[in-house]
Amino acid sequence: MSDNQQNQLWGGRFSESTDAFVQAFTASVGFDRRMYRQDIQGSQAHATMLAEAGVLTGEERDAIIQGLDEIRAEIEAGEFEWSVALEDVHMNIEARLTDKIGITGKKLHTGRSRNDQVATDIRLWLRDEIDLIDGEMERLMTGLLDQAEREAATIMPGFTHLQTAQPVTFGHHLLAWFEMLKRDRERLADCRKRVNRMPLGAAALAGTTYPIIRERTRGLLGFDEVCENSLDAVSDRDFAIEFCALAALCVTHLSRISEELVLWTSAQFNFIDLPDRFCTGSSIMPQKKNPDVPELVRGKTGRLNGHLIALLTLMKSQPLAYNKDNQEDKEPLFDAVDTLAGCLRAFADMIPAIEPNREVMREAARRGFATATDLADYLVRKGVAFRDAHEIVGKAVALGLEKKKDLSDMSLAELRQFSYQIDDDVFEVLTLEGSVSARDHIGGTAPDQVRAAVKRGRDALR
Ligand code: ARG
Repeated sequence: MSDNQQNQLWGGRFSESTDAFVQAFTASVGFDRRMYRQDIQGSQAHATMLAEAGVLTGEERDAIIQGLDEIRAEIEAGEFEWSVALEDVHMNIEARLTDKIGITGKKLHTGRSRNDQVATDIRLWLRDEIDLIDGEMERLMTGLLDQAEREAATIMPGFTHLQTAQPVTFGHHLLAWFEMLKRDRERLADCRKRVNRMPLGAAALAGTTYPIIRERTRGLLGFDEVCENSLDAVSDRDFAIEFCALAALCVTHLSRISEELVLWTSAQFNFIDLPDRFCTGSSIMPQKKNPDVPELVRGKTGRLNGHLIALLTLMKSQPLAYNKDNQEDKEPLFDAVDTLAGCLRAFADMIPAIEPNREVMREAARRGFATATDLADYLVRKGVAFRDAHEIVGKAVALGLEKKKDLSDMSLAELRQFSYQIDDDVFEVLTLEGSVSARDHIGGTAPDQVRAAVKRGRDALR
C-alpha cells in the first residue's frame, strides 16, 4: 500500500505523509484484524439500515453487502492482503471494498465513524467469545457434578489451615469448586448484558445528521439496547474491564483448585492421580510426573490480573470522548479471552479424568483425629457443656498422639477415663461414615446431601 493510498482516507487536510515509523507504531491491524467478521457484520447491518433510511439505494446496498461477503471469503481463504499503511481492520476492509465495487464502497462510511465502528466491533466480538466461554464453563461444571455424584460417599479429610479438621466427602469438596464456578458463570452472564449494547450511531462523538434508524441496526445485530449517549458510547470500555475482572476472578478460582490438585498428586498426599496426558516428565529425573496443567493454570492468574490492571489504568482519567488510548484495549482483552478460554477448556477436559485414591484419602482422614469434634458434640448431647467437652476431647487426643492411636481405635475403658458419660454408643459417632452422615442439612457434607446438591446443580445448569 503506497503512502498516497493511505492519505486518500484523510488526505484532504494533510500536506505530508505519515512518518514510516509512526505509521507502524500507530497501526492496529496486526491485532484488530481478528475482528474482521464482526466488522463486516456491522457494516452489512449499517448498509441495510442506510438503504431503508433512503441514504443508499437498493443497488448500492446490494453491492456493498455482496462485496463484503466476498471480502470475508478472501480473508478466510488467506488471500486478503492486510496493509499496515491502512492502519486498522476497518480501513483495510473499506479500502478493499472500494477496490472491488468502486465509488459505492466509499459510501458505506456515511453516518458513521471508526469510533462507533470499533466500539461496535469489540462488543460483537466479545459477545461471541462470551458465548463460547459460557459453553466451556458449563462443560467444566457438568464434569464436576458427574465426579461429585460418583464420589458422594468417598471420605477424605477436610482442612482448615491445611491441617486435618473434620472428615468430609470428596463429592462435597468437588461441589465447593462447582459453587465458585457457578458464581463466575453468573458474573459472565451479567457482564454480557452490558456488552450487548450498540454504540453504532454515535458516529465520531456527537451523532450524525443523516436520518439513521438505530433501532433497525440494533435489531439486525442482535443487540439488546442502543447506547443512550453518543459521547459515552464511543469512549467507555468499562464492559471490557468487567470482562477482565470476571476472568481474573474465575482464574483465581481455578488457581485454588489447581493448588489442591498439585498438592494431592504429590507423593506425600497421594489423594489423586492425574492421567498422563495432563502431565509431563522431567528430562533428568526419571521418576517425575509433573502436574503441568494445574500448575500452568495457577500461573495464568498473574497474567489475567495484569490485563485487568492494564485496562483500568487505560481508562483512568480519559476525557470524553474517543481517544487513541483506547486502541490499547484490544490486546489485553483478546489475551484475557484466550487465556480464560484455554484454562477452562483444559479444566473441562481434566476434571472428569481425576482418579481419586479412595483408600489413601480415607486413611488420611482416620489418622488426623478428624472426628474429635464429633466426640465433643456427643458429650454435649449427654449433658456436658461444650467448653468442658472440648477440654475432655483435647486430653483424649493427647493420649492418642502419645499412643499413636486414633480416637476410634481406643477401647471404651481408655475413653472413659476422660468422662464417665462415654458409653458403647460412642463408636458410631467416631466412625468417619457416622461423622459425615450426621452433617445432614442443606450445604452439609453428608452423602445424601451431596447427591441432592448434585441434582439441584443439574437443574440449574439446564
Ligand atoms: N484502531 C482504532 C482503535 O482501535 C480505531 C478507531 C480509530 N479512531 C480514530 N479516530 N483514530 O481504537
